[in-house]
Amino acid sequence: MEKINAVITGVGKFLPEYRLTNEELSKMVDTSDEWIMSRVGIKERRILKDKDKAASYMGAMAVKDLLYKTGVKPEEIDMVICTTVTPDYIFPTTGIMVCDQVGMKNAFSYDLHASCSGFLNAMVTASKFIQAGREKKIVIVSTEKMSVITDYSDRKTCPLFGDAATAVLVEPTTENIGLIDYILRSDGVGVKFLHQKSGGSLSPASVSSVNHGEHFLYQEGQPVFKYAVTYMADVSVEIMQRNNLTANDIAWLVPHQANLRIIDATARRMELPSEKVMINIEKYGNTTSATIPLCLNEWENQLKKGDNIIISAFGAGFTWGALYLKWGYNS
Ligand code: UT7
Repeated sequence: MEKINAVITGVGKFLPEYRLTNEELSKMVDTSDEWIMSRVGIKERRILKDKDKAASYMGAMAVKDLLYKTGVKPEEIDMVICTTVTPDYIFPTTGIMVCDQVGMKNAFSYDLHASCSGFLNAMVTASKFIQAGREKKIVIVSTEKMSVITDYSDRKTCPLFGDAATAVLVEPTTENIGLIDYILRSDGVGVKFLHQKSGGSLSPASVSSVNHGEHFLYQEGQPVFKYAVTYMADVSVEIMQRNNLTANDIAWLVPHQANLRIIDATARRMELPSEKVMINIEKYGNTTSATIPLCLNEWENQLKKGDNIIISAFGAGFTWGALYLKWGYNS
């Protein structure tokens, strides 16, 4: 029997219009463009201002963009995997609401939660369904309204995050393209350094949790940075080695966009020149599971069928990993 691979056949996005600049942030907290640019590499981030619109709205907009671009009808979609750390509700899942808003009536859907590594985990999951042979068109929707869990009085975290949504179509192929190899890892050592303290079953919402700002993202930046720098580079190098790839063989590194210094360190360990690294953190900040597809969308016109691409990410949990894929189409 011919081997079936899962290949990305389209990438859509939704970006809110409002741009929160470093200049504006420096009027809200004691920070500066100089500090944020030199320590993280972010100039501005997008914020969804509408109070009545949430992750499912952004995700639905991204899916509509994807379906428009690919000419696929909503009813043709078999399955939707939604990655988010900012679901509309704790339950039911955001993916189901995205399906409803877009009219993907024949799809089943669930949310997959792996923080900043969500897209990698969803891509591997989609690939397994595709290889099993029944589902032919799977959408991965990554939608993050990070502004609702960001404390804009905390200078340590408020410059870092932005809102965005992306949608990726995954289909079967018998060609030697698509997802070729993956490494996925997780380790609970990171829980204490990066989490949201309240709102879950351990610490449900209360007057005290609200008064103490426990529904915002909490991060101890330095330890997270230390692990991220090591682990993201480790898996990126490991996936190169076990597929006999040198820097010359790789067309692009698509790294999670949390900190320019982490991206640079990963590229250095892979011995990749900067022109092979997709970087847009300056414009959007860290949009959690949406950063990688957002890069793929932005660089889509430069990608060629068969290009060797390494995707790598690191996030809360900790969760991290690397994918090796061969790009599936010319735009
Ligand atoms: O995507 C999920 C995974 N997350 C990550 O990968 C993030 C990893 N961590 C990081 O990227 C970095 O640790 C941060 C960008 C979060 C922070 O950068 P840092 O170089 O590690 O700074 P720091 O936390 O060690 O703080 C250094 C100093 C402190 O001042 P003192 O105590 O030395 O006087 C902070 O108070 O910088 C201060 N500082 C700021 N100053 C101006 C922290 N935030 C700011 C700020 N503006 N926004």
